[in-house]
Amino acid sequence: MKTQVGIIGGGPSGLLLSQILHLQGIENVVLERQSRDYVLGRIRAGVLEQGLVEMLRDAQVGERMDREGLIHDGFHLAFGGRTERIDLKGLTGGKTVMVYGQTEVTRDLYNARDDMGGLVIDEATDVTPHDIETDAPYLTFVKSGLETRLDCDFIAACDGFHGVGRQSMPKNVLKTYERVYPFGWLGVLSRTRPVDEELIYANHARGFALCSMRSPTLSRYYVQCALDENLDEWSDDRFWDELKTRLPEAAAATLVTGPSIEKSIAPLRSFVAEPMTHGRMFLAGDAAHIVPPTGAKGLNLAASDVYYLSRALIAQYQKDDETGLKNYSKTALSRVWKAERFSWWMTTLMHKFPDQGVFDAKMQQAELDYLTSSKAGMTAMAENYVGLPYQEGDEQ
Ligand code: FAD
Ligand code: DHB
Repeated sequence: MKTQVGIIGGGPSGLLLSQILHLQGIENVVLERQSRDYVLGRIRAGVLEQGLVEMLRDAQVGERMDREGLIHDGFHLAFGGRTERIDLKGLTGGKTVMVYGQTEVTRDLYNARDDMGGLVIDEATDVTPHDIETDAPYLTFVKSGLETRLDCDFIAACDGFHGVGRQSMPKNVLKTYERVYPFGWLGVLSRTRPVDEELIYANHARGFALCSMRSPTLSRYYVQCALDENLDEWSDDRFWDELKTRLPEAAAATLVTGPSIEKSIAPLRSFVAEPMTHGRMFLAGDAAHIVPPTGAKGLNLAASDVYYLSRALIAQYQKDDETGLKNYSKTALSRVWKAERFSWWMTTLMHKFPDQGVFDAKMQQAELDYLTSSKAGMTAMAENYVGLPYQEGDEQ
């Protein structure tokens, strides 16, 4: 088999890249290890920055999102018995975010790839990149017991944190930076009316809590939990009681509870791999970096990588201009590190750390008090939350 761009991974990064390239006439093949049902069963992110929203519209996959997604102009910070609103729209000159699940984004992308005759090979195992340092890289994989070779001009490794792309870069080339946080998030999805029209991020003496949603009838809630927490010990009742304890009184009083339809624990990690390019292979999304979820940046950061990489590949094929590909790692990492900083900061501000003393708790409260009483403080938070701009121009 032969194509122009071989894409490893059929998550949001790989599928969006595939769709954008296809619309520009660039041939590509996506190799996904899991079945489609498995990929579409994963409940993950829920908040889309405006940059990603516009990319999805430009990629002709924004129709259902525009119909069903919820535009949010602000969110709430709850701490020390107070609830303060961050007016995203007012503080950023009109920018907002869209609440629309990653699962739905992925479904829309799969449907679009199918409708346009895109080649997404599911259940492709043993995917292996070869000769990435040469002008003729290729991928091998096994599908239905048959080993196949896919020759390509470039490889995009969009294969998530545990993928094969980053692991196939030479150890002396790759530098990694990591922080693992001493807690996780216990998440519940329930077919209930969200407790508020906007998201609530709560800093509480018992730990962080977050009220989010997927639709006016589908709620997503999280509570900070221990890393070694046993999911079986979290009945729905225990979850709702813990959430209520951590929420502002008014929210706790109106919270509608119901059976969970999904319950899972996610660890929190900050991770960056540098560089994001080796030879003719380019890393994008979780393959290159992980953020703790507090700032809702994971999926959005994957999207900005795809933005830079797709533009660079288009310039290469349509104008024979390799500048974008040469600068891809530097350009992407500049935005990655800023999102890493914001996610780390918001995580540190909102969670209870196991070794946290009274002084540290006071510092968190003072920072939240300062932040929500200062227009400069709130503006800095708002402009990071809605998403920093993508870098434009030839310097890419
Ligand atoms: P992925 O979504 O991981 O997709 C990578 C794909 O590559 C997968 O489909 C995988 O099966 C495939 N793959 C892996 N290895 C191979 C291989 N060897 N060969 C072929 N295919 C392979 N972000 C938020 O903003 N908010 C959240 O609430 C949130 N919750 C999360 C919860 C969990 C449990 C996880 C893991 C992540 C969460 N994230 C969240 C992060 C967000 O979901 C990711 O940033 C986003 O999925 C990144 O997309 P991606 O396409 O780069 O990677
Ligand atoms: C969701 C997850 C987040 O990490 C976040 O900051 C906001 C919302 C969610 O799953 O809805």
